[in-house]
Amino acid sequence: MSHTARPLTGKRVVITGAAKRIGRSLALAFADAGADVAITYRGSQQEAEQTLADLHQRGVRALALNCDVRSEVSVQAAISKVTEDWDGLDILVNNAGAFETAALEDVTVEQWDAMFETNTRGPFLVAKTAYPLLKAAHGRIVNIGSLGGLHPWATHGHYCTSKAALHMLSQTMAKAWAPEISVNCVAPGMIVNGEVDPAYEHFAQKTPMRRNGRAEDVAAAVIFFAMAPHFITGQLLAVDGGLGL
Ligand SMILES: NC(=O)c1ccc[n+]([C@@H]2O[C@H](COP(=O)([O-])OP(=O)(O)OC[C@H]3O[C@@H](n4cnc5c(N)ncnc54)[C@H](OP(=O)(O)O)[C@@H]3O)[C@@H](O)[C@H]2O)c1
Repeated sequence: MSHTARPLTGKRVVITGAAKRIGRSLALAFADAGADVAITYRGSQQEAEQTLADLHQRGVRALALNCDVRSEVSVQAAISKVTEDWDGLDILVNNAGAFETAALEDVTVEQWDAMFETNTRGPFLVAKTAYPLLKAAHGRIVNIGSLGGLHPWATHGHYCTSKAALHMLSQTMAKAWAPEISVNCVAPGMIVNGEVDPAYEHFAQKTPMRRNGRAEDVAAAVIFFAMAPHFITGQLLAVDGGLGL
């Protein structure tokens, strides 16, 4: 394939939580665009190995690194491995996330803290650790937020609040780390990864575009920010088929 067909050739990308589901789609989309891709996983080692093989098949350099975004030591080890192998980093996608349904009045301190540890502090820790590399490369960060960070979902209060905080963190990073690093955020709506559930049909009918989202829709938005003018920074792009309107 020509360089134009693979416009991210030579770019080095880290995507957290990318063994399966949306993260895997992001990883494959970056590899299809020619980028070298390091995925991280926490528990899904088998799926990570499969995704790693699928990345290699696309003719790019690839790594699968165990990483718990709640642990600074673990994050530092993963980013060090990327530096060792690839001598730098161009793009970070903070995709790893936690999701939980709970009545607001029942959310415990432990549940609240666990949600923020993964969804808000995690992306901060990974970005902070990668900051010198991204600064040197005039790189980019794309954080995966959520429609739930824009609109309140009554039975996901701790999740929604953690994602709203991530949206603000994205804007703060964009301002703090300009002009070297552009930082944007993609906020998916209802994304269905092949699961079958009557609730999904209900959401599809409520969505102006009359379907739920696919991982590929999210990947297209992330690839947009990976290739957009560096001048575009601090933006939040909902990928929700109009569900949030
Ligand atoms: N699916 C949706 O409809 C939807 C809607 C809005 C926003 N989003 C956001 O889009 C992103 C991807 O969604 P998804 O549904 O594909 O997510 P997911 O399957 O719930 O989680 C993605 C990955 O995050 C990793 N992870 C969780 N806790 C971690 C930790 N402490 N350290 C490192 N990795 C951790 C897990 O890795 P292991 O499996 O390896 O443990 C998991 O595979 C998430 O940020 C999510 O909040 C999704």
